[in-house]
Amino acid sequence: DTPTVYVTRRIPEVGLERLRDRYEVVVWEGKLPPAKAHIASRLEELDAEGLVCLLSDTIDAEVLDGSPDLSVVSTFSVGYDHIDLEAAAERGIAVGHTPGVLTETTADLAWALLTACARRTVEGHAYVEADEWETWGPTLLTGPDIHDAALGIVGLGNIGTATARRAAGFDMDVRYSGRSRKPDREAELAEVGVDATYVEREELLAESDFVSLHVPLVEATEDLIGEEELQQMSENAVLINTSRGGVVDTDALDTALEREWIARAGLDVTDPEPLPGDHPILRHAPERLVVTPHIGSASIGTRNRMAEMAAACTIAGIEGEPVPHSALGDAGLE
Ligand code: GLV
Ligand code: GLV
Repeated sequence: DTPTVYVTRRIPEVGLERLRDRYEVVVWEGKLPPAKAHIASRLEELDAEGLVCLLSDTIDAEVLDGSPDLSVVSTFSVGYDHIDLEAAAERGIAVGHTPGVLTETTADLAWALLTACARRTVEGHAYVEADEWETWGPTLLTGPDIHDAALGIVGLGNIGTATARRAAGFDMDVRYSGRSRKPDREAELAEVGVDATYVEREELLAESDFVSLHVPLVEATEDLIGEEELQQMSENAVLINTSRGGVVDTDALDTALEREWIARAGLDVTDPEPLPGDHPILRHAPERLVVTPHIGSASIGTRNRMAEMAAACTIAGIEGEPVPHSALGDAGLE
């Protein structure tokens, strides 16, 4: 019998083709994610051996119990906070994800938000479109310099390091915080002339002009940036979040923008996510807030590579081989 793979959204064709070469592939064609109960019942009806999911799907015990034959969950994302890893490990179900391929692309987006906030490009576009541009202005849309400024990286993992590396071209003063010092990362950055100093988070927040968040969402990082942290930041500072919305306390950020504890924020991830168009925090946009709809990895090449990697993890899982990128291994559950 040919194994069946259930895919919770149409991912790039290159990944689906690889799966179709070997398996029956059933794709949820909806624009919005299928309900959790729907995924479970489809896994059951199809007797699926593989599940390819997105970060917008909740994959918990209920879903995993859908099919007794399920051997692998492969998420089309680097993050796996939407998957109950312990439940998967208990059931002997492998979990694959897509690290590495999206590192540089996501770092590019962190910089896109950083430059948009500093140089007020979104606001400038709105100004022109609103037909307010009457003359060249000596103080029109002035913002902070990016070059020579201090960049603070919270979480010097793959994406944090790639974001820090880009600071070389801007001659920035780079510091990072995290659970521990990372001499290997420091050495990697030193090679391109970035001298990254390990500091306590409190010091990083107090002394950075730009603070960019690059931690995964786990219990310890939930609401990592709340009122206290935002108050520690400089009133001229810009906060960038391309990690997970839950890392920032949205109400606290709203207060911080309202009371001008910080100058601006650029968010690619939000809590709630998706952020409804009538969410109160959007009253700060575009002057103080720039939001993009979780597009950190959204380059054409990277999304294709993610699809290939998600397929590769699925195939390995079904064939009983170690998945090339194991979330269980990453989380110490293997
Ligand atoms: C897809 O075909 C679905 O109904 O889940
Ligand atoms: C994107 O946020 C991802 O986890 O891939």
